[in-house]
Amino acid sequence: MLPQIKLIVTLVLVLVCGTTASSMSKKENLPSDEFARRRAVFLEELRELDACAIFHTAPQYQRNHDVEFPYRQDSDFFYLTGWTQMQGVLLLTPQENSENGEEVSMFVLPRIPKREVWTGPKAGIDEAMVLPGIDQAYDYGDFYTHLGKLIKGYERLVISHGSDLVFEHEFEENFKSIRSRPSIVQEASSLLKSYRLIKSDHEINALQKAIDVTHQSLEEVLPLIPGLSFEYEVQAAIEYGFARRGAERMGFPSIVGAGKNATYLHYEDNHGTLLAGDLLLMDIGAEWNYYSADISRTVPISGKFSSEQSAIYQLVLDAQYAAIELVKPGTSWRIPHERAIEVITSGLVDLGLLEGDPTDLIQEKAYRKFFMHGTSHWLGLDVHDAGGWVGDDGKPHILKPGMVLTVEPGIYIIESEDVDQKWWNIGVRIEDDVLVTPKGHRVLSQSIPKTIQEIETLMQP
Ligand code: GLY
Ligand code: MN
Repeated sequence: MLPQIKLIVTLVLVLVCGTTASSMSKKENLPSDEFARRRAVFLEELRELDACAIFHTAPQYQRNHDVEFPYRQDSDFFYLTGWTQMQGVLLLTPQENSENGEEVSMFVLPRIPKREVWTGPKAGIDEAMVLPGIDQAYDYGDFYTHLGKLIKGYERLVISHGSDLVFEHEFEENFKSIRSRPSIVQEASSLLKSYRLIKSDHEINALQKAIDVTHQSLEEVLPLIPGLSFEYEVQAAIEYGFARRGAERMGFPSIVGAGKNATYLHYEDNHGTLLAGDLLLMDIGAEWNYYSADISRTVPISGKFSSEQSAIYQLVLDAQYAAIELVKPGTSWRIPHERAIEVITSGLVDLGLLEGDPTDLIQEKAYRKFFMHGTSHWLGLDVHDAGGWVGDDGKPHILKPGMVLTVEPGIYIIESEDVDQKWWNIGVRIEDDVLVTPKGHRVLSQSIPKTIQEIETLMQP
């Protein structure tokens, strides 16, 4: 069968089976009391700081006439509200006694029937009012009418503009004119990030779902790759798998790079040609209930690794196994990265790609010629999630149960005179998503194939 026909037949089969499967299970949102619980925890900190807090939604970005970019809520705003619509404010005003007075106010756009003719139904003030733990919902247009009264008497204001520059500017102007306003103003994400760093069971379930969708979509595409011709065909088939399974979007733009393109860390074009003999690097992640997976797999386009490709692939895999092994509570998050550097540096010396004593080479950061990025980042609502590299003490974060991080070493060999040609254009990254547990870790993406044998077996015609 012609490769194109094979792809179409496979996709049609997948569509038919998938439609049956998806009609059996309806996607569930995160429970709304999860957001009330998060706010209650954050309100406690605000109470201690004598602070009130303001969070604004993400802006709507215009693409061109009458067309906007798809909207996605600001992650901090979503974290505290679950609200997915634009133009809203969350105002937190902790009271001395939480039983009395208004602690949680939302300002949202009212429903406008004329607009819903175009957009379909949207949630409005009534819908915000019935969210668990919301004391009062107001019209977004009345925010500055109520602001002065609600934030009166607090020493500190903690604020997130949600990256909305129009709101930021307007707010600064209005805030100046409030007579009894908080004297200290501080941005909110530096406070909220320590909560976002530790995932609840609901968050872990959402991440697991995003990872499972990514796994299923990737695994069904691997056997098709030897019959495809372009990077974008692989991208389309994977993203189709995400959409068909109910993911709301990708957590980040898919990276699908073949041959030389696999050596660009965040390759963007995805229009290159698939040539038998080259490697294909796929760095992809579905988003589920706003939580993103982040998985990288590298496969031989022909279905079989060459001996040079196998050597580099196995080295990256060994570095990844060794790094994952060290993910446990009480360890600095830098330790797995340092272990990956050790394994990769020694391996590159064994293969003749670096010359010298591995300890000296690590000191000189010689590995950076081939491994030029970090091994981990936090994962959650954002693919590079909130948390930062250091804790409040200015030292690298110590891993704690509930943290989720990626482990993604790589080796990228570009054409250069001082490297034997047989290694040129080999780019390999292997990435899994790892939860820190009380006793060690759980690889949430454990079952996605990654050994040479697993990949080659899956890709056999
Ligand atoms: N998935 C892209 C990255 O981790 O940077
Ligand atoms: Mn990543």
